[in-house]
This record gives sequence, C-alpha cells and structure tokens, in this order.
Amino acid sequence: MIFASSAKHIKELDQAPDSVLSLNGAAKHILQPIYTMNGFNWFDRRGVEGVGFVKTLRTLLTNNLPQLLPRLSIATKTLVWVIHDLCDHPEYVEPLREELQTSYADFERSTKGLPLLDSFLKESARLTPVESMSVRRCALAPFTFSDGTRLAPGDWGCAPSGAINLKEEYYPSPHEFSGFRFVDPAIIPDKQSPQINQGKPSKLVDVDESFLMWGTGRMACPGRYYSSAFMKVIVGQIIMNYDVALVEPSAPRWFSWRAALLPKDHTLVTFTPLEKKI
Ligand code: HEM
Repeated sequence: MIFASSAKHIKELDQAPDSVLSLNGAAKHILQPIYTMNGFNWFDRRGVEGVGFVKTLRTLLTNNLPQLLPRLSIATKTLVWVIHDLCDHPEYVEPLREELQTSYADFERSTKGLPLLDSFLKESARLTPVESMSVRRCALAPFTFSDGTRLAPGDWGCAPSGAINLKEEYYPSPHEFSGFRFVDPAIIPDKQSPQINQGKPSKLVDVDESFLMWGTGRMACPGRYYSSAFMKVIVGQIIMNYDVALVEPSAPRWFSWRAALLPKDHTLVTFTPLEKKI
C-alpha cells in the first residue's frame, strides 16, 4: 500500500482512469470474507463460486459499496464522537444553543445555516475521524505517480486523511480542539474567545486536500450534504433538549480496528432533559 499525502499525488490518485485505479476495486477487497463475518469464508467451505444465495448476497453488497457501507455506519459513529466532544467541551453548549434557538427553524426549511454547529461537527470529525484513510484506490493495472513511485496490479494507493488532519501546514495548533475553528472570525461569540481559527471559513461538506473526510475530486462522496444535514438534525435536537455528560469521563472510549477509530460499547452518556424546551 502506498500513502499519498501531498495534494499533487492525491490528485493523481483521483484522476487516474477507473480501469487503472479503482474505488470499487478497493471496496470489494474490504468485503472479502476474511475481513468480515468474523473470518468465516464461504469460498473455502463451498468451493470458489460459493453457494447461490451467498454469491447473490455478496454480489449485491459488493456492487453497492461504497453506497451502503458509509451510509450505515460512518455518520452514526461520527455522531458519537460529536456527543463526546460536547461532553468534553461544555463551554460550547451555550453558544450552540443560542444559534439553534435563533436559526434552527430556518435550517430545517433550507438545510442551510448553523455555521457554529457546522464548524463544531467539522472540528470533531477532524480530530476524531472515524476513518483515517481516504481516497482508497486499488490498482487494476500498473500505475506510476509523477515522482516514479509505482503501484502494481492489486496494490493500493490511498491518502492518510487522519494524519493529514493533524498537519501544522494546514491547521494552526493542530492537536487543539477549537470548536469554532472553521467559522468566519467575525461571528465567533465574544465569550468564546480566544479561539484558534483557520482565518478562512469553510464548511463540513467542503472538500480539499486538507480535509479528506469525504474523499476528493470526481469521486467525492455525493452523500455528504445529506449526512451533514442529518448530523445537524440529531445534534441540534440533543443540544436544544438535553444536557449531556459522560458518566466516566476518563474511561477509555475508543478502539481502533483496521483504519477505523470506533466507540467502545460500554461508554455511558447521560441525557438530562432541559426543564424548559427552547
Ligand atoms: C459521515 C458519512 C459519510 C462519510 C464520512 C463518507 C465518506 C465517503 C468517502 C471517503 C468516499 C470515497 C471518496 C473517494 O475515494 O474519493 C465516499 C464515496 C461515496 N459515498 Fe460517502 N460518506 C458518507 C455518507 C454517505 C451517504 C449517506 C451516502 C449515500 C446516501 C454516501 C454515498 C457515497 C457514494 C455513492 C460514494 C461513491 C462515489 C463515486 O463512486 O463516485 N456516502 N464516501
């Protein structure tokens, strides 16, 4: 596997023809039984073609990846990290509540607005990305990057998105959580200063070489607008109606599995209804 971390090489991964570097090829690789279904391999048990039912099921699943996989899992896990961040950084709750109080109805009608919440979600996804690899491509034919690095058929090229999220070149104080990092500094509430800010506002759904949550270029996730709105509805409803707190803030909350950062099952969060709904 070759990791491409410069904007130039990531672009080369994206622009190679599908017959040479394939996103679906990478997705099919991920769904091999050896990596899923607890290692149970139908192919080993029933011959190379597998039984009809299993073959059909796997064909449907693999042919519809990556449409299915991210939809089912990544958005909900991203939300878990956002809820943990609300617990870890309670100073953001009040300004977020104020924004929701004035603008949630407009957002519900238009799916636009809520820049403070958008930035909070983006900062959470930057520092705790569910996936730390992006722009995965499997070589179906030999491929050579502009610097001469080669991929043979079957090799993977991808971008280390989790590490890129921590690059000082892209993010001032990259390890610091700064919930309003991505908003226009002019709209940061007074009580929220000082804040580390990018200077140039950007949105959760924006795609560029410094933020690869959604991939990049011609394959960039088409579900990102839906996912962003979906996450804002859930987090917005939580903030408007509950105070959240971790029962054991110092207990380990995550484990890594392959390139993913996943929440542990037993983390408890209390949701205390607000006395008066806003
Ligand atoms: C938080 C949630 C999600 C994340 C983090 C995510 C991330 C990604 C990434 C990294 C890619 C690969 C892009 C590349 O390699 O350049 C991708 C592709 C894709 N995603 Fe998502 N996704 C999410 C939700 C969704 C949803 C909800 C849908 C559908 C409603 C969806 C549909 C797709 C499709 C169809 C592709 C393939 C695009 C293509 O082949 O051109 N995703 N997504």
